[in-house]
Amino acid sequence: MTAIGATMSLFVEGLLYRGREGHLSYIGHRLAGLGTLLFLAIHIVDTSSVYFGALLGVPEMYSHAIDIYRSPLFMVGEIVLVAAVIYHGINGLKIILHDTFPHWWNKGFERQSFWKVVAMTLLLWAPAAYLMGRSLYLHSICRCPPVETADVTASTNFAVTAIPLLFFAILAVLIVGGKLLAPAPAGRRVAAPPKTLDTHIWQFMRWSGVLLIPLVWIHVAIQDVLVGVHAIDLDFVALRWATLGWRLYDIALLGFAFGHAILGLRNVTNDYLANPVWNRRVKWLLIIGWLVITAIGAVAIVGGVMRPE
Ligand code: HEM
Ligand code: HEM
Repeated sequence: MTAIGATMSLFVEGLLYRGREGHLSYIGHRLAGLGTLLFLAIHIVDTSSVYFGALLGVPEMYSHAIDIYRSPLFMVGEIVLVAAVIYHGINGLKIILHDTFPHWWNKGFERQSFWKVVAMTLLLWAPAAYLMGRSLYLHSICRCPPVETADVTASTNFAVTAIPLLFFAILAVLIVGGKLLAPAPAGRRVAAPPKTLDTHIWQFMRWSGVLLIPLVWIHVAIQDVLVGVHAIDLDFVALRWATLGWRLYDIALLGFAFGHAILGLRNVTNDYLANPVWNRRVKWLLIIGWLVITAIGAVAIVGGVMRPE
């Protein structure tokens, strides 16, 4: 069988496997992570046109990109993106808890926690979907002027206060039902195997995941849900990047979110590409793609918004 044929059959087998809640949660996590990665790669490049547009003699590049974000089809996609970011974050936190404290949970944990994750995702997504759906209706369907614009400072203050609180609330809900602080089972201690590259990647996925809940959620809550794509333009980005803190924030977002997602895609590659030659080739492509896109994003954040002379 060719490398592509083998990959396809592994992929289809994975989808058809009937593992109930545990399998649904795994497929949902993977699709949400890969979907967000696809969006993020495009988003970093189009945001960087705030710097490169004027340099390349196409200063209207960013406004073209934002016009696409404002189209009804894209706005529906953004509502789905918010659901993906919420589900992947909560489910990721569940995976981290489960891996770190395996002795806290009983056998029924996987099923019960899947429904907890789904319920919390729907609960958090509903108000966001309402606000974004309302904006879609006002701007694209009824076109009823004047459409009020959000207060950016109030939206920012709300997001930076509410999301850390939400994080602890979600953590508490996930822990309920576990055997809180149960001691690790006694037994003969087995010496830990030496750490390999995969061990470090596994650890990075978990630490970066915890950090990404506030980083990504605050960003998305401000830009996409509360302020909305209709209020975003070159002046908006210039105003945000006038504050050093927001530039550092975006650098952290770029490094951790894109790094986490590319390493996630590396894991997916290992699952589906058994052929060692193709596996190595695809991993090289991932490293090159990661370096190029991260460099483009970083240069734009450092260079800032450039306007034509
Ligand atoms: C919001 C906070 C996030 C948390 C808590 C989180 C957590 C995790 C965890 C724990 C894993 C490893 C799963 C495993 O080993 O079974 C993972 C995988 C992954 N994450 Fe995230 N993540 C977050 C955000 C993101 C973002 C923003 C992206 C994309 C831009 C992303 C893309 C991925 C991908 C592609 C994978 C690999 C999926 C797989 O192996 O099936 N994650 N995430
Ligand atoms: C549709 C939803 C989104 C909108 C409207 C949006 C909007 C923006 C805007 C206006 C900027 C410019 C800088 C700033 O204002 O801070 C930006 C930058 C950035 N956003 Fe988003 N964002 C969205 C979703 C996301 C998501 C889901 C992620 C991460 C998974 C993300 C990661 C980033 C990064 C890394 C940068 C810096 C880009 C660069 O260096 O070129 N954004 N975003």
